[in-house]
Amino acid sequence: MDCYGLFYSVSPSPVKLRFIFVIWLFSSPAAGQPQVIGSLQPIRAAPGDDIILPCHVEPPINVSGLTVEWSRPDLKPDPKDRLSRVDYVHLYRNRREVTDIKISSYVGRTLLSTEGLGKGDISLNITNVTLEDEGKFRCFIPKLEGQKKSAIVILVVEQNSPTTETPLQSRNLQTPDPKEETADKGVSSRSNAIPVVVFSCLLGILFIGFSVYLGRKHFRKPEVPNMI
Ligand SMILES: *[C@@H]1O[C@H](CO)[C@@H](O)[C@H](O)[C@H]1NC(C)=O
Ligand SMILES: *[C@@H]1O[C@H](CO)[C@@H](O)[C@H](O)[C@H]1NC(C)=O
Ligand SMILES: *[C@@H]1O[C@H](CO)[C@@H](O)[C@H](O)[C@H]1NC(C)=O
Repeated sequence: MDCYGLFYSVSPSPVKLRFIFVIWLFSSPAAGQPQVIGSLQPIRAAPGDDIILPCHVEPPINVSGLTVEWSRPDLKPDPKDRLSRVDYVHLYRNRREVTDIKISSYVGRTLLSTEGLGKGDISLNITNVTLEDEGKFRCFIPKLEGQKKSAIVILVVEQNSPTTETPLQSRNLQTPDPKEETADKGVSSRSNAIPVVVFSCLLGILFIGFSVYLGRKHFRKPEVPNMI
């Protein structure tokens, strides 16, 4: 343990930091204008899962009269398509879904909640996720009055992704998580370190005291011959 360790133990927890961050967000000048907000964390799912890609307007305003687009910004246009356009994962326009410019693999698999749109929630439901769904999704309200009209949500699809809490907990019971184990060791070595630190400090003080004493002795000695 040293000065850094001391700082670390008194520094605010990540939860507090997030709280401060949220306060900062709301006190920023653009706070009054509606903005589109996605998920900061990637969404994790396993093939076959039904998922929600979170996205909403803050402050919550009724966007059921606006166009809402969900697309995949990193998807290449279909080479067979003469217009080389990228279709939508989900397009909501004139109060209904428009399906004729939709990526074929998403036909019948996406859903926007009408009730959600009324309160600024434009989260997209996707059923039966596949490995091909992995990547970036973009939620976009072109006519939103505000600077931030779109947001990115990242989807990660893994074969054996832990989708619920239960398998994780039972796995922990069988074999302890290596991270937790090292964390425990870290704590015990830290408490072991306290006597060592105290001892080192005492040694340091003794050493400094001794040096000063020696220095004075050394300083006085030449005085005598100088006087002669
Ligand atoms: C979206 O999916 C969630 C969970 O998969 C479900 O609870 C919710 O009802 C779905 N929303 C709609 C509009 O179907
Ligand atoms: C949103 O506005 C539409 C009309 O544009 C209205 O029909 C709907 O009830 C409103 N929804 C809410 C939740 O206020
Ligand atoms: C989910 O997708 C797979 C292939 O992508 C398909 O074989 C399966 O029938 C689908 N399941 C449902 C419930 O639609």
